[in-house]
Amino acid sequence: MDQVNFGMIGGGTVGSGVFHHLSRNGALLAARIGVPVSLRKVAVKALDEPRPYPIPRAQMTTDWREVVNDPEVHAVIELVGGTTIAREMILTALKLGKPVITANKALLSAHGAELFAAARQHRANLYYEAAVAGGIPIIKALREALVGNRITHLYGIVNGTCNYILTRMKQEGAEFATVLAEAQKLGYAETPPDLDIDGHDAEHKTGILASLAHGFWVNPKDIYVEGIRHISRLDMQFAGQLGYTIKLLGIVKTLPPKTGKGARGERVQVSVYPALIPHAHVLSNVNGVFNAVFVRGDVVGDTLFYGRGAGKDATASAVLSDIADVALELAHQSHGRVPPFVAHARRAEVAPIGEVVSRYYVRLTVLDRPGVIAKISAILGAAKIGIASIIQPEGHEGETVPLILMIHDAPNAAMSRALAQIAKLSVVKAPPMMIRVENLE
Ligand code: HSE
Repeated sequence: MDQVNFGMIGGGTVGSGVFHHLSRNGALLAARIGVPVSLRKVAVKALDEPRPYPIPRAQMTTDWREVVNDPEVHAVIELVGGTTIAREMILTALKLGKPVITANKALLSAHGAELFAAARQHRANLYYEAAVAGGIPIIKALREALVGNRITHLYGIVNGTCNYILTRMKQEGAEFATVLAEAQKLGYAETPPDLDIDGHDAEHKTGILASLAHGFWVNPKDIYVEGIRHISRLDMQFAGQLGYTIKLLGIVKTLPPKTGKGARGERVQVSVYPALIPHAHVLSNVNGVFNAVFVRGDVVGDTLFYGRGAGKDATASAVLSDIADVALELAHQSHGRVPPFVAHARRAEVAPIGEVVSRYYVRLTVLDRPGVIAKISAILGAAKIGIASIIQPEGHEGETVPLILMIHDAPNAAMSRALAQIAKLSVVKAPPMMIRVENLE
């Protein structure tokens, strides 16, 4: 094949970004890989919809099948999002043996197993660099550059909306709701914002990273997810005084194997939750809409990948990288790539959050009277949960006061049970606030 022709479905923010940057840098890319590439056709929702970069009318159609079925289109770029029609588009292209590039994390999360099986069956690769952390080349890093490592820890700040909100809460001492409303006005947060602030966008991305790192398909229903709605100005402030920042993290950690009867293979924690991380760690300085993924491999040690996790230009950069890979694959007739989600971990499972051992920050609202701490520590002591420190911050005097407990390593199930008991004490006047602590050691 002398030239590789692409068809694109989706001409919105990211699609028009891909069109624009391929027009600018296509010749450079082609010179680097030694294969000319062209973007022949773009299927759009409406020819006249506003888009950040123009696409010539002659190259647009409103019929996605016209793009996928065109015999002159050798590979398809899907950038429409959603989990219904996008699935049909991708499966149609794969069945025709055409490689597909997608940025669709929600679709991969929900239907990844089916889509990668179809890709294998039809010998047409599915590429998805743009699906996780926008312009950060984290898929390539995990799939190829770190292929010789066991990935023991991965911590990702993979949702720019949440990171923007938490950054402003920290820097301005503002409340969550105030910052969210402003972020929506500025276009940094979607309306409705639920997918981002309830942690589901991060869940999709973390599941994909976990699958790559551990070689088995991680079902989204096995991922424990908490968003950031409940994070208050007060917790951000107390965390700061204790030397921590609060970040929404995607966490993928290898756990010690279970022993005894019923023990299976490798156990992995795959979770998304806000966590206190030390000010001294580099991740705590990833601010605003930026993303970062910290990966620890058993050979390489600690690595950090940082950049813009969304937007027309950064995401287009990731799509361009997939375009180069597809062009090389088709031009040289070589399907021989590191397979996605290599089934190298045949005996592995996601551990339920109840079994995961964490550290905790707990804020209680208690009556300010003698004997309160004794009642609380009796419950924790009976549950064999150790207290690292107790602080009653000054300047909050009144009938009730905040009490901050830093808790040593304890299983999440034991901690939940103890907190439920503590919540019932008559001296505890509001539901306990618990945020996990990740020291990233
Ligand atoms: N909404 C996402 C974010 C970007 O805020 O990071 C797209 O995944």
